[in-house]
Amino acid sequence: SRADEAKAMVEAHTLLKRFYHHLLVHTKEGQAALDYLQVRGWTKETIDRFEIGYAPDVPDAAVRLLESRSFPLVLMEKAGLLVKKEDGRYVDRFRNRIMFPIHDHRGETVGFSGRLLGDGQPKYMNSPETPIFRKGTLLYFFHEARVSIRKRQEALLVEGFADVISAVQAGVDYVVATMGTSLTEEQARILRRHAETVTICYDGDSAGTEAAWRAAEQLSAFGCRVKVALLPDGLDPDEYIRTCGADRFAEEIAAARPLMAFKMDRLRRGKNLQEEGDRLRYIEEALREISKLSSPVEKDYYMRQLADEFSLSLSALYEQLSRSKPEQP
Ligand code: CTP
Ligand code: MN
Ligand code: MN
Ligand code: MN
Ligand code: MN
Repeated sequence: SRADEAKAMVEAHTLLKRFYHHLLVHTKEGQAALDYLQVRGWTKETIDRFEIGYAPDVPDAAVRLLESRSFPLVLMEKAGLLVKKEDGRYVDRFRNRIMFPIHDHRGETVGFSGRLLGDGQPKYMNSPETPIFRKGTLLYFFHEARVSIRKRQEALLVEGFADVISAVQAGVDYVVATMGTSLTEEQARILRRHAETVTICYDGDSAGTEAAWRAAEQLSAFGCRVKVALLPDGLDPDEYIRTCGADRFAEEIAAARPLMAFKMDRLRRGKNLQEEGDRLRYIEEALREISKLSSPVEKDYYMRQLADEFSLSLSALYEQLSRSKPEQP
């Protein structure tokens, strides 16, 4: 049955996760990968905690292990662990890669992402969509972070595996990752169910900033209070922690700004506010954003800020606000 198949798929993932982890930490084959991880600054404890592994540089290590445990190879291909070649033979999907096991929200091992030891393409190779692995419904590390997230009523959202791992090693354990894809409705709903506030800390490059912007809109639409932490110099959280240390990372997170402040900054970009035309355009656009806010208190707060900044009367701004309609999507 389908349930039996799913169960066998999870068992196979669990078996391989232990196998890959063993190869990484206890064998010569895994030494180069282990060195790589340690150069990245990850401790033995961290590597164990995340059950990081190494898929060896042979075509059939997983095939042989799964076969020896009587897992049907057809099913293992459906689970995304093996690939069927044109001649009908099976080979491992993951080879010579650092293996990050991915758990579902109950803690079952349902997928992998394999990273190259150095540069090259594709940097990460992921499990395909399978009956047990649906990327858009999962957040990396959620099964572990859930308790902290609930307690704090806050989640820290990052893009990648390395960002989660380094954040946790730096003492920030209420962190989850989207694994590089844009935040889905399902993921936004999950976050909202567990936390009032979501702090987004995506990569500090332009792609990350754009994605943060979209994720913020999505989360707001689901009723989350959103804050955004923008890291300097295009760094991602992992790189920032390595360069600037855990304490400064904690400061950056603590200094995350509410979404509206972030939006105002963006609206300012490319405008010369000394110039009347740009200034009026900015005020108009800012009002449009403010009109989207659902909380009257928040609305008033930003109206006052705008009034102060441009020496306008609050009543004139409110008059204008009543005419400004939120942009249709
Ligand atoms: N990603 C992916 N496939 C790729 C590239 C990225 O699935 N070919 C996902 C991974 O989950 C990755 C995330 O997108 O963690 C963010 O991508 P990127 O910033 O490029 O990678 P980093 O997480 O910074 O990875 P690293 O630090 O190991 O280079
Ligand atoms: Mn171990
Ligand atoms: Mn990136
Ligand atoms: Mn990154
Ligand atoms: Mn990185």
